[in-house]
Amino acid sequence: MNIKKFTINKITIGASSVDIIWNDKKISNFHFLWLRDNCPSSFHPDTRMRKFNLLDVSENIKPISCSINKDGNLLIKWNENNHQSIFLKNWLRDNCYTIKIKNNLKSHYNLWDSSLQKNFNDLEIDHDEIINSDEGLKKWLELLNSYGLAIIKNCPIKKKSAFKILNRISYIRDTFFGIPFEVINIPKPNNQAYTADALVNHTDLPYYEYAPGYQFLHCLINDAEGGVSTCVDSFKIATYLKENNLKIFDLLVKTPVKFKDNDYTQNKTRVHYSPIINLTKDGNINDVRFNMGAMGVLDIHPDLMNNFYKAYRKFAFLLNSNKYLIKFKLEAGDIFCFNNRRVLHGRTEYNPSSGHRHLQGYYIDKDEIVSRLNFLKKISV
Ligand code: OGA
Ligand code: ZN
Repeated sequence: MNIKKFTINKITIGASSVDIIWNDKKISNFHFLWLRDNCPSSFHPDTRMRKFNLLDVSENIKPISCSINKDGNLLIKWNENNHQSIFLKNWLRDNCYTIKIKNNLKSHYNLWDSSLQKNFNDLEIDHDEIINSDEGLKKWLELLNSYGLAIIKNCPIKKKSAFKILNRISYIRDTFFGIPFEVINIPKPNNQAYTADALVNHTDLPYYEYAPGYQFLHCLINDAEGGVSTCVDSFKIATYLKENNLKIFDLLVKTPVKFKDNDYTQNKTRVHYSPIINLTKDGNINDVRFNMGAMGVLDIHPDLMNNFYKAYRKFAFLLNSNKYLIKFKLEAGDIFCFNNRRVLHGRTEYNPSSGHRHLQGYYIDKDEIVSRLNFLKKISV
């Protein structure tokens, strides 16, 4: 939302667009069909869905006249259907794709390495602040969106009590591990997390086509020796590889590899092929899947095998290197929250005979986090 006071200085009707010069000298070009399609009268007031059928006008529709009305907004009279539209100037500025496109391509992520450890306090937020205020909720979601990481402090330690805070966002994502999943050392585990072994940094559930976007580990008790948490920003490392070792980066982007789950409790065999690093259509890093434990038996082309292993090992090495990771021991009442498709998590081994350790885990899809934040930020769509 624009809070600045923009005014329209000049309007001209060009060959295919209405061109506006603003009071800050910036120029917008709004194409005729785009304007007609987005006429405020096109939308249902409650559903906010477009009722207008694009095929009810011709592709050659154009304005007969354009003017600035007494409120400083844009008035257009169209050459078809005797229609007229009024566009609020702030709406036009907010939705201007000539000016906005230049900023859209920039990544909004705050990439980090081990130096984040010094500012660890900045990642912490109090449970009650989130429960009691939308400002607190927004701060939490902004941390998750920009750093991919936050720790909620002073949460209740009753089982399942994390529902209250997670419901401030939205629906929980269900998986075969259950809601919540119990991260505890058990006999006959169906996941490595349910042992007392060390876990190298990984993303969870890479064998789902749509791997959960966010993960929340609620610490109920952590009295055993060991069990120190680690996490790392894989986007930072992928960016480093892109800038310094393009061959390795390309292999990780272009080679689909097999991820799978077929643990002994399942009546399903889950298989998903994906590159380890996935890009957006603009070439930015979209998500990373990395999990040595859930990697299937590799079946890539024999000509690629040697070089792929080189690339895979290099990425694995960096993802577990002290230059990039941060470490902390969760305390009872903490919720460790992170982007499961960007920030890899792990732990050192722990000694189950020295004390108890119990985390309860939850997933929420990325859509839910981002859309809740968009709502709180009142973004224009
Ligand atoms: C998990 C996991 C880490 C831990 O449950 O997915 O990686 O600290 N747990 O136990
Ligand atoms: Zn995990």
